Amino acid sequence: MLIGMVSAKASPGVTTSALALASVWPRSALVVEADPFGGDVRAGLAAGQWPPSSGLVEAVADLRSVSLDEALARRVHRPAAWAPPVLAGLGCVGQAATLPWGRLGADLGRVRDADVITDCGRYLPSDGVLGLLRECWLVVLVCGSSLRAVRSAARVGSLLSRDLGCPPGDPRLSLLVVAPDDPYGSAEVAGACGLPLLGELPDDPRAAGVWSDGGASWRGFGRSPLQRSARRLAERITGTDDPDAVRPRGEDRPRDDGRGESRSRDDGSSTGSGTTPPVARRGRGAA
Ligand SMILES: Nc1ncnc2c1ncn2[C@@H]1O[C@H](COP(=O)(O)OP(=O)(O)OP(=O)(O)O)[C@@H](O)[C@H]1O
Ligand SMILES: [Mg+2]
Repeated sequence: MLIGMVSAKASPGVTTSALALASVWPRSALVVEADPFGGDVRAGLAAGQWPPSSGLVEAVADLRSVSLDEALARRVHRPAAWAPPVLAGLGCVGQAATLPWGRLGADLGRVRDADVITDCGRYLPSDGVLGLLRECWLVVLVCGSSLRAVRSAARVGSLLSRDLGCPPGDPRLSLLVVAPDDPYGSAEVAGACGLPLLGELPDDPRAAGVWSDGGASWRGFGRSPLQRSARRLAERITGTDDPDAVRPRGEDRPRDDGRGESRSRDDGSSTGSGTTPPVARRGRGAA
């Protein structure tokens, strides 16, 4: 399962949310920093301690000679016991133009042993990351709850709907509200953005600082409001909170969504991927 997380202006929290979610994911999960503006985990979560040559650029170079599984085995790093494994992002902005985003997305969607959560940073249609997002099973737009945040997210939401070919209400493009009720509630934010509401994560600066700035974890970290909400959200996305959503092994891989939409890849082939995320089957609402 490949999940893409993006944000808009005035909505901090996409990197923190991706890491928090992956850390409590009910199955194996890997975070890929695919922010075209450059990665943060080396300086943030890892506070500058990261093995050299362990990142997305090196993994993409490896793909010329080895399989994706092998490339990930070489380049993924788990910076702390409480952190998920991470493929660290780009070192500088210009590198984004050189990446085969669509092919990378298609490859990541086929990772066998883990679900992949990609931090795609702020969405810009021109930066190429759209190719990766088109391969995602679920695209999550992360949004704050201020008027500025909602205005920006509404603009980006409609761009993404168009670019991904998602009709209104399509749960493959859903909204995650970070720090809701400041002042707008999640349902109101989702309504203004015209997107289904996937859930919300609370304002929790201490726990967020563990993910964004290498803050120390503590004994009750797993029970912090952020981690508890992230766990509920992860269970909801994967359907592990709902016995009705349990499917035969392998059936959670993308299938043809019946809309006859085949998604193009950088190499010109098409995957025909896309299915309804399990969150759609049980109605919507904040996690
Ligand atoms: N749920 C949260 N509660 C409180 N603070 C948060 C939360 N999520 C993120 N933050 C804080 O917001 C700031 C930005 O977070 P983060 O780096 O995750 O944002 P981003 O959208 O990835 O930013 P960038 O565009 O720079 O990559 C950090 O100080 C982080 O601790
Ligand atoms: Mg970030």
